[in-house]
Amino acid sequence: MGKLQVLPSQIANMIAAGEVVGRPASVVKELMENSLDAGATQVTVAVSDAGRTLIRVIDNGSGMDSADAQLCFERHATSKIAEASDLEHILTFGFRGEALASIAAVAQITLKTRRPQDETATQVEIGSYGEMSVSECAAPVGTSIAVRNLFYNTPARRKFLKSDNVEFRHIVDEFTHVALTRPDVAFTLTHNGRDIHVLKAAKSLKYRIQDLLGAGITGELVDVEINTSLVSVSGFIGRPEDARKTLGNQYFFVNGRYFRSPYFHKAVMNAYAEMVPDGVTPSYFLYLSVDPSAVDVNISPTKTEIKFEEDSVIFQTLFAGIRETLGRNSFGASIDFDTEGAVEMPQISRSFSEYKNSEIAPSVDFDPSYNPFDPAPSSDYVPDFGSGPAPSGGSYDTRKFVSGGDNYGALFEEKTVQASKSMIVAGGKYVLTPVASGVLLVHVRRALTRILYEKMLRALQAESPVGRISLFPVEVQVGAAHVPTFVEYASILESLGFDIVPFSTDSVSVNAMPEGWDSDELSVRDTVAELLQILEEEGAHSSLPQMMQSALAQRFARTGAARYQPLKSPAEAQQLLDELFATSNADLTPSGQRITSIVGAEEIEKRFS
Ligand SMILES: Nc1ncnc2c1ncn2[C@@H]1O[C@H](COP(=O)(O)OP(=O)(O)OP(=O)(O)O)[C@@H](O)[C@H]1O
Ligand SMILES: [Mg+2]
Repeated sequence: MGKLQVLPSQIANMIAAGEVVGRPASVVKELMENSLDAGATQVTVAVSDAGRTLIRVIDNGSGMDSADAQLCFERHATSKIAEASDLEHILTFGFRGEALASIAAVAQITLKTRRPQDETATQVEIGSYGEMSVSECAAPVGTSIAVRNLFYNTPARRKFLKSDNVEFRHIVDEFTHVALTRPDVAFTLTHNGRDIHVLKAAKSLKYRIQDLLGAGITGELVDVEINTSLVSVSGFIGRPEDARKTLGNQYFFVNGRYFRSPYFHKAVMNAYAEMVPDGVTPSYFLYLSVDPSAVDVNISPTKTEIKFEEDSVIFQTLFAGIRETLGRNSFGASIDFDTEGAVEMPQISRSFSEYKNSEIAPSVDFDPSYNPFDPAPSSDYVPDFGSGPAPSGGSYDTRKFVSGGDNYGALFEEKTVQASKSMIVAGGKYVLTPVASGVLLVHVRRALTRILYEKMLRALQAESPVGRISLFPVEVQVGAAHVPTFVEYASILESLGFDIVPFSTDSVSVNAMPEGWDSDELSVRDTVAELLQILEEEGAHSSLPQMMQSALAQRFARTGAARYQPLKSPAEAQQLLDELFATSNADLTPSGQRITSIVGAEEIEKRFS
């Protein structure tokens, strides 16, 4: 006998299942799609324990007769490839007749189904050993499938599942994607018996978006309509000025199916360039239609990765179309993100010319009690980092920044810089101060990033939790899918000085903010949206606690520093440099960007030669 053996079908199915059914959310997606394929107008999804113990999908679609009800669990059983002429059309939608077989290989299943023309329904049960039992039963027209104890027979896969909150969020994501493709269908989602979404059939996509994501979002959207011979695009994009306020709602669909595309995302982001600050992503709901033969949806088992024949042309179309839409709504010109924007060109500001034109030493307006990072009455969010172990005097040990290349060696010689007498703030964004070898330039935002990073890290490591200020509780709608995030990361938030607790099924109550953070209602809302984004992205990517801490601290620091107020006085500059040189690395940001630089005497000389 040769070495080759045919895998028993149960094992083959289990292996294939790994590709189609990665987590409970994939089951939800496949079952919902089947319901829509069956012409349902009402689809109910009920899950328990984030889908680990039960996923039940009930529809009022066409149902199946008894023979099909048994056959549908066979691999490659699909009613959707009826004739060869259908094949190309069908393939483009990716019917593989694989989903139910895959799910049945890794879970226990109860199916009840009835066609309108039949008197009785069929019940099919698939048990722990893959054995099938069939009986007649009473049931309404349509299909109900219960999937129990997912991955009961594949412990490795079970172990890979994340926390209930993460898994449930994936379920809500899949539910959202499907619900956004069919506003005309009513959908319900419940978790452990609680209603998460109850969506009635909607008059239009806009109503569906509103029902699904909250009334707040629709006012922030503008229509998009792009038509070329290759692709037509319709849907909505967010106003640039709202980009910070809304939670990440970025969706692409093609021919009625959700897909992910970092490449097309880039096209959209490029269209918004200079209209939204760094690190902020606008919402978009973009529905592409292309000739089905020009896309391949089968390159990934879950069909969320899609290959377009002419993807670079579509990229250009998206970019140009969105740019034009934004221009037509005249967002481009009117929006001024000034201090938050990407402009990093040194600008000589008023504060600079004032000093230049007068003999008055900048230290004149030195106010020793002034802390630039105290919440100013009218300020945006201003981080507080005044409590760190910064030296309080006006000098620092320059050995702290000898690690860099070029002319840092020279600095090593000088032990201290007397700074308070000669600080110049250029454009609010840069600090210039003389050192023996020339002029030291400090990038303010990056300096803040480093300072905040170390402060956040200390807080996360619980060495010195950030102080908090109680406020009159602010209720913030975050959507049911996101409420659990605040529970899951409660201790992290607490160490950072936040007190945020669930308030209703889809909102949280913010009871305290870190010292120094703006606590007016609008800022609180913005902060909550940012926190969510940070926690959910970092939480999904990093599993080691230290990595998570460092990643979180970096994100918080970047977010905090991006909102800095331009420095106004040499005293503020002084404070900043004190704080900076008290950190472990005054030279580079946590992500490796240069904070300080020296223009040497030689370089200055060259300018006059
Ligand atoms: N809710 C349902 N209502 C009616 N028929 C269904 C339902 N779910 C599944 N079926 C039938 O079972 C068949 C197999 O479903 P399955 O999801 O395994 O494959 P598919 O939908 O054809 O392709 P894919 O693997 O791409 O999902 C379907 O083609 C359909 O005929
Ligand atoms: Mg299917």
